Amino acid sequence: MEFKDKVVIITGANSGIGKLLSEHFLKQEAIVVGFDIEKNDNIHVLSYKVDVRDYRAIEKSISEIVKLYQKIDIVINCAGGASSRVLNENKPFESLSLNAIDWGIDVNLKGPIYMARAVINQMIKQKNGVIINVGSVSGVTGSKTAVDYASAKSGLIGLTKSLALLGAAHQVRCCMVSPGPVLTRPEMSKMTTPMARACSPLEVVDLIMYLCSEKAAFISGDNYMIDGARSCGGMKHEE
Ligand SMILES: NC(=O)c1ccc[n+]([C@@H]2O[C@H](COP(=O)([O-])OP(=O)(O)OC[C@H]3O[C@@H](n4cnc5c(N)ncnc54)[C@H](O)[C@@H]3O)[C@@H](O)[C@H]2O)c1
Repeated sequence: MEFKDKVVIITGANSGIGKLLSEHFLKQEAIVVGFDIEKNDNIHVLSYKVDVRDYRAIEKSISEIVKLYQKIDIVINCAGGASSRVLNENKPFESLSLNAIDWGIDVNLKGPIYMARAVINQMIKQKNGVIINVGSVSGVTGSKTAVDYASAKSGLIGLTKSLALLGAAHQVRCCMVSPGPVLTRPEMSKMTTPMARACSPLEVVDLIMYLCSEKAAFISGDNYMIDGARSCGGMKHEE
């Protein structure tokens, strides 16, 4: 019960990896706060309707959480996704709308930067804290189909290193986890990996929970691939 009474904020907490993370932290009696575009009071201790592109909404919710619990132990930036899929624009980058490109950069990169800006002073003050950024294999390999997505996820590598440097003297850590295809949607099984399978969402959750734990107290600033060696190259084609 390492996470008992820890205040854990998860963005994108209503679905997929974020939802499963919420369930696993709740099993350990953590105080899980979900941020998503809709409130969902059934799956978290507290739920806020927060669009991560809206700094004022983030700031207001964070200040309410600090008033309630006097601390924020863990922030997991999970909200994100490929803009062409989320916005149903099934188009290649060459004809993708600027609206989709803005969404891709704003949700996947600006959101985690906003979240960090909103919690970092509290974490420095309490001399403790962990921030986890959820990236993607595309942020390391690039992607000719999801250009804005890959660019944003690459940007998270810089954010992770920068926050690790900023937080190090205050026992505030930042790590990144970059999955290959994860079976949060059945179609992800079509993306190949050298291990000839996709990742289970639980495998990603286990890695994130390890990085949040005291066992990882000296780990900060790096990006952990969980991609069945997909980023090592050697794939015959790009999906
Ligand atoms: N599933 C995969 O194969 C895979 C692979 C690599 C990386 N990832 C990354 O993992 C993370 C989670 O992926 P998933 O498949 O579980 O996603 P998902 O689509 O199941 O869930 C994403 C959640 O984010 C929320 N969200 C979207 N826009 C938001 C906004 N502006 N503000 C707040 N919340 C918002 C959605 O409402 C949703 O609940 C994402 O960052 C994704 O890029 C996923």
